[in-house]
Amino acid sequence: MLETERLLLRRWKASDRAPFARINGDPRVMEFLGAPLDREQSDALIDLAEEHFRQHGFGAYAVELRGSGEFVGFVALMIPSFEAHFTPCIEIGWRLAAEAWGRGYATEGASALMDRAFREMGLAELVSFTSATNVRSRRVMHKIGMTHDPADDFDHPRLREGDPLRRHVLYRVKREEYAGGIGMRHL
Ligand SMILES: CC(C)(COP(=O)(O)OP(=O)(O)OC[C@H]1O[C@@H](n2cnc3c(N)ncnc32)[C@H](O)[C@@H]1OP(=O)(O)O)[C@@H](O)C(=O)NCCC(=O)NCCS
Repeated sequence: MLETERLLLRRWKASDRAPFARINGDPRVMEFLGAPLDREQSDALIDLAEEHFRQHGFGAYAVELRGSGEFVGFVALMIPSFEAHFTPCIEIGWRLAAEAWGRGYATEGASALMDRAFREMGLAELVSFTSATNVRSRRVMHKIGMTHDPADDFDHPRLREGDPLRRHVLYRVKREEYAGGIGMRHL
């Protein structure tokens, strides 16, 4: 469990399943992630997140607003399950309800996770990736101190040739850059 000024990052509860399915069924949320998910597919993601926690001790944390207790999505540290030029690695990622966008929640939650990754877990590097056109997500990557080298861009191996989402950008941040002040200046 992690607390920030406005957010609680915690393990999943049964009561998250319905609102998470609404988030995953929203075409605005899924614009850069593929087709909207149905309830079964959404529930399977929660099961996967919990399995990832059991195996690795970290994973996708449910995000709750501390003020209202409302569940609004997740921020995550995850091991990607596909192979690419930058794997094996640990990825930082996020998905929030469209109603909660634009208030800095993704940046706030991801910054707290990055702090845990470098300070408590002692990781050497984090990556993040998304479709090249997902400017909102890229903005979060930039704001939390990650940098983009176009030489790292890649075609997502799970997406077919011709899929407009196939081209992905990769952002990275190394522990020493974070400690050096590009990130949260906590070390
Ligand atoms: C990506 C996502 C998590 C961002 O959540 P959020 O809480 O709104 O993020 P923040 O408020 O911390 O930051 C968003 C930034 O993007 C900027 N932004 C929003 N829309 C933008 C646009 N169309 N063009 C450029 N920048 C944009 C915001 O202005 C903000 O930057 P700023 O603080 O410098 O102004 C949210 O949009 C989301 O859940 N999207 C759908 C799922 C997804 O794509 N996840 C990532 C998959 S890799």
